[in-house]
Amino acid sequence: MGKVVHDFWHVVLESWEMTLANLQIDQDRVVEELEKLATFSDAPEPAVTRILFSPTELAARAYIRQLMRDAGLAVREDGVGNIFGRWTGAQPDLPPVSTGSHIDAIPFSGRFDGTVGVLGGVEAVRALKQVGFQPERSIELIMFTSEEPTRFGLGCLGSRALTGSLAPDQLAELQDDKGRSFVEVRNSAGYQQNLNEVAIKPGAYDAFIELHIEQGPRLEQANLPIGLVTSIAAPATMRVTLEGEGGHAGAVLMPGRRDALAAASELILAVEQAAFSTGRRDSVATVGLMQIHPGAVNSIPSHIVMEIDIRDTAQAPRDSMVAFIQAALEKIGKKRQIEASIEILNADPPSQSGADLLKVMRKACDKLHLEYMELVSRAYHDTLFMSKICPTAMIFIPCKNGYSHRPEEYASPLQIQRGVRLLAQTLADISSNYPAN
Ligand code: GLV
Ligand code: MN
Ligand code: MN
Repeated sequence: MGKVVHDFWHVVLESWEMTLANLQIDQDRVVEELEKLATFSDAPEPAVTRILFSPTELAARAYIRQLMRDAGLAVREDGVGNIFGRWTGAQPDLPPVSTGSHIDAIPFSGRFDGTVGVLGGVEAVRALKQVGFQPERSIELIMFTSEEPTRFGLGCLGSRALTGSLAPDQLAELQDDKGRSFVEVRNSAGYQQNLNEVAIKPGAYDAFIELHIEQGPRLEQANLPIGLVTSIAAPATMRVTLEGEGGHAGAVLMPGRRDALAAASELILAVEQAAFSTGRRDSVATVGLMQIHPGAVNSIPSHIVMEIDIRDTAQAPRDSMVAFIQAALEKIGKKRQIEASIEILNADPPSQSGADLLKVMRKACDKLHLEYMELVSRAYHDTLFMSKICPTAMIFIPCKNGYSHRPEEYASPLQIQRGVRLLAQTLADISSNYPAN
């Protein structure tokens, strides 16, 4: 680098650093907003239930849009209901840097999963504006539609569609448990834009950073405030249907019964066995959902639908668990004369964080005196799909006892404040082509 250029960057760099040194994250404000968001819930507190496009979720969306506008962001939405808030930079033609997460919540979960990344993103923008920071690249905050699979059986709907990982005709095929199609539901939620216009091109963003609670105990155990995520585990979901024969629970004797639930029970144990079969700590498999028909105490179950969640940090053992379960199902079906079918709803590869982004973030941690560890995300996130179109990384903050997807989920105001601070610093660094060294 020439001396003049070098001096120029040096001065610019110093003035940014002075500006950012005054950054104030208002943790009370974020906590208040998290509390307010938690009131948009269909479960009694402290539990939170917020299912995609329910009246409650739609009201929460209005709240988020308002917060984005109050922070001075220009708000727009796409045909799947992703909400974008843009802070236009000095060079609006450059691909923006982006951050965000989700606000939908699975039944009876907590108030921090996803919401910390959305409300933390709003606070990061407010704090940067407050100290007079001016980005070169635009900064975009994204609230993704339906990161959780609750309503349509598939997680990360918004980020899949946005990144072209889920085509409009696949979206159109999705149905909820009332048989309502995704298109019908989003239409009545007021989203009627053309689904063909949702997907953006690779490179449309310069980078994506997601702030999230860890949802595991590693940071708390290590007593560290920050986790930098290096990769995200590979998730798969299967839906199994078992067709047996119903009948009177008293009148039909045991020999020759074709009890679909008894077959399902064997399969549940095989799912557990599948995870142990790899011999890896990182292999997990869960049956989290089952519907029993007809569902009467004095009637033999004739029809079962169950959904299985399978994950590993590496794809090959994840795939071997899927194969193990398929083979087990075939055997159980034959033995019990149950008609069994299996549908793989998704089987996604793992993702890796961007090496340059991680470099910037390690430096930011050092600058802010935040001790960190690097870790794998065992949960999936919208980042998994954003990584298909731009470099990505995630900031994890600790959560109490590693609890998540349950009402006891908790991150302290200080933990949140530190995560938001690192997010703000990182957004400032990467939106201004901050020299990486
Ligand atoms: C996301 O909520 C996940 O299940 O990992
Ligand atoms: Mn979740
Ligand atoms: Mn989440």
